[in-house]
Amino acid sequence: MSEPKPPMRSYTPAAGYHWLTPLYDFGVAVTTRERIWRERLVDHMAPAEGDIILDIGSGTGNLSLAIARHSSGVRYLGIDPDEAATRIARTKTARIIPVPEFCVGFFSASAVACWPAPTKVAICLVLHQVGLEEKARLLREARQALAPGGKLFVADYGEQRSRLMRTLFRLTIQQLDGVHDTQPNADGLLPVLMREAGFRDVREVETFRTPTGAIAIIEAGKPTA
Ligand SMILES: C[S@@+](CC[C@H](N)C(=O)[O-])C[C@H]1O[C@@H](n2cnc3c(N)ncnc32)[C@H](O)[C@@H]1O
Repeated sequence: MSEPKPPMRSYTPAAGYHWLTPLYDFGVAVTTRERIWRERLVDHMAPAEGDIILDIGSGTGNLSLAIARHSSGVRYLGIDPDEAATRIARTKTARIIPVPEFCVGFFSASAVACWPAPTKVAICLVLHQVGLEEKARLLREARQALAPGGKLFVADYGEQRSRLMRTLFRLTIQQLDGVHDTQPNADGLLPVLMREAGFRDVREVETFRTPTGAIAIIEAGKPTA
């Protein structure tokens, strides 16, 4: 008898459609002022020698590159279900030492159990693309995977506080990724979900107004005990 197959899971590719994946880097750079928020994200993460950083939904490897520009001696692990994006990530980061590790798959704590427990976890531009239950699951499992005392950094479309940001978000991201998955972010639910997942000291440390809506960096900690 053949083995039962795991249930098929779907996901939204990096740029909304698979055929757009090769254009993701260009798109994210011009539509989100990426250079600015990504560098600030890495500043907040303060990667240091000995850190083990897990990047959930690592896409085309842009966080890995930004971390390598900032510091050396960091071990980086990325996981993403998208094979094409992961191929791009591996090619772009092949010269970094130590070479970043990328694995193709949906993130769960058990999927990364063979790696050392991360001291820092990043989730960038992933949570606005998944449904409410998946947002909560990813955050719960991120907490489970993190080493005690470790930190979580979420960079994503957060609460859209002004009329201009709400309009830009509606005309761009919500057209591409739909309203269902993106509206909880716009309504300010990310910090709430992070607290519900068991994180402490959840705080929005910076917000960036972009042509596609406001992107927030939200930081949180996992208690030591
Ligand atoms: C908009 S891209 C962001 C990529 C990258 N984090 C960045 O900052 O450029 C979202 C990524 O999340 C991945 N993704 C979607 N659902 C996921 C899930 N359940 N677990 C892990 N990654 C997921 C997608 O394949 C995609 O590469």
